Amino acid sequence: MQQPSVVAHRGASTDRPEHTIGAYELAIKEGADGLECDIRLSKDGEIVCVHDRTLTRTSNGRGTVSAMTLAELQQHDYGSWHKHGQPAELLLLDQLLELVKGTNAQLFVETKHPVRYRNEVEHKLAAALQRHGLQDQIVMMSFSPTAVKAFRELAPDIRTVLLLDRLGRYRSGALPPFADYAGPGIHLLRNDPAYVDRARRAGHETYVWTVDNAEDIALCRDLGVRYLATNAPANTRRLLTAN
Ligand code: G3P
Ligand code: CA
Repeated sequence: MQQPSVVAHRGASTDRPEHTIGAYELAIKEGADGLECDIRLSKDGEIVCVHDRTLTRTSNGRGTVSAMTLAELQQHDYGSWHKHGQPAELLLLDQLLELVKGTNAQLFVETKHPVRYRNEVEHKLAAALQRHGLQDQIVMMSFSPTAVKAFRELAPDIRTVLLLDRLGRYRSGALPPFADYAGPGIHLLRNDPAYVDRARRAGHETYVWTVDNAEDIALCRDLGVRYLATNAPANTRRLLTAN
């Protein structure tokens, strides 16, 4: 069976501050097959790579991302909070797209807060990808079916993942027509490993998050998971290829 592709979740985020250029450069250096990032809009409509709604956890600043302009967001340090951190600038999606260009890495972009923004994030993402001409290397993801559906209509050629933190109505493995890959959390596979096979029979390979320990990595490999998102890409690759 094919080994899962290793996707660096928020970059090589165990060893570098998440969503910084250094975290993504390290992931590429370590041979990750893919990179994952979360995107939000600033108050003035710029796409920035930040996971949380606020700056508190991942910078030395305070405030809500969507309530701050790009210039305000750029005043803070996004690296020093991390145990292996150095001062780092806010990462813009444009910068990450430039990094990915010229590599073989796939970029998995997760949009956050689609309802509040009325799919503005998806609109801006589709426009940015068209500008950069990177459609083949990109996969769009969201927990919101509404967001994935809206994106599919805007950019029909770009692959999509419907992220799942519970199986609920998708337990059978079937997904709506606008979703290519199923994106269950690893907690779902620990309870229901047969889900991967049900999804495959329904025509969907799986992207599983966030997989860092040896037992979970072995489970994903044995089940034939297609993409495995991990905070520690080098260690995950080592464990996947051992034995
Ligand atoms: O890769 C999907 C995963 O990142 C979803 O959870 O909270 O880390 O964005 P979260
Ligand atoms: Ca994410």
